Amino acid sequence: MSFAGSSMIDPFGRSISYLRVSVTDRCDFRCTYCMAEDMAFLPKKDLLSLEELDRLCTVFIEKGVKKLRLTGGEPLVRKNIMHLVRQLSRHLESGALEELTLTTNGSQLARFARELADCGVKRINVSLDTLDPEKFRTITRWGDLSKVMAGIEAAGAAGLKIKINAVALKGFNDSELPEMLRWAHGRGMDLTVIETMPMGEIDADRTDQYLPLSQLRADLERRFTLTDIPYKTGGPARYVEVAETGGRMGFITPLTHNFCESCNRVRLTCTGMLYMCLGQNDDADLRAPLRASEGNELLSNAIDEAIGRKPKGHDFVIDRRTSRPAVARHMSVTGG
Ligand code: GTP
Ligand code: 5AD
Ligand code: SF4
Repeated sequence: MSFAGSSMIDPFGRSISYLRVSVTDRCDFRCTYCMAEDMAFLPKKDLLSLEELDRLCTVFIEKGVKKLRLTGGEPLVRKNIMHLVRQLSRHLESGALEELTLTTNGSQLARFARELADCGVKRINVSLDTLDPEKFRTITRWGDLSKVMAGIEAAGAAGLKIKINAVALKGFNDSELPEMLRWAHGRGMDLTVIETMPMGEIDADRTDQYLPLSQLRADLERRFTLTDIPYKTGGPARYVEVAETGGRMGFITPLTHNFCESCNRVRLTCTGMLYMCLGQNDDADLRAPLRASEGNELLSNAIDEAIGRKPKGHDFVIDRRTSRPAVARHMSVTGG
């Protein structure tokens, strides 16, 4: 049975057209704001198979999803991930899906860039918080910057458009952002900065790391001319154009400026849990209805029921009085 033509509308009238799929909770880095050093990962037997993930994504596409982003952990460390990408690309060919993309740390991109482009991926987001190899090693706990740079190079050569995502971290990369902006824009890449969000226990104190982007923007405006533009990608960033570089810069401000009123997305994990909001604990199990029958009706009903309780938004706070994270799970469970 197909559900084509139907669309998913939540209780606040928001249409859900963007699915983020975390294909693995594992990552080959341990960014200090994202994970604790001794993270316990899911046993491999709990993961949905690639076929099951494909079936789930397909039902979402039939129900109105137009943009699909693979995330992790690090999506490119999932075994045989290109098999899933290739399978999903049929929905680009049919026109049902408008965009198939991923958010990656770039470490494996040199290997996969060409094949991603072959599968119809046009644009990818690469997470990179610093251009300094030593600082990169510190923030990722053991990452090798040269591998990420080689990945970015390979992606560019394969014709993929690249957006760099940098989490703004006080005293870590704030002074480096003008240089990162020139570097990214000089290579035709957009740069988006993100406020750190209180998700999961980490070893560091988030209050020390948190940098409100209103402050960062004011600092940048002393050196650059930033003009708000209406450019939209379907994600939460608000964009400006930078006159001096001719490039685009995005701001993702879950703490200083909540963007939940225009939320169009839900996120699926590699065990088949659906999270209706990044900042809330409520979830819906889609694995049980997926496995309960070969047809998709139970699954479709479970999705409708879940969308029917999508919350209004998150209530992230970072200050000295709020020491506990807003949600206990780490970003790597849902991929942001
Ligand atoms: P574009 O398609 O390029 O707009 O990407 P995107 O911003 O949708 O996705 P990306 O994976 O690059 O995410 C960038 C940052 O935005 C990550 O830190 C995500 O956690 C964050 N983000 C994405 N969606 C939400 C959301 O609904 N709420 C919050 N608070 N953050 C989000
Ligand atoms: N707050 C904000 N962004 C985070 N990311 C990971 N953890 C956090 C956090 N606590 C970012 C990564 C990547 C994206 C998917 O989410 O750097 O760019
Ligand atoms: Fe891995 Fe991304 Fe988390 Fe860094 S932020 S540890 S690259 S999932």
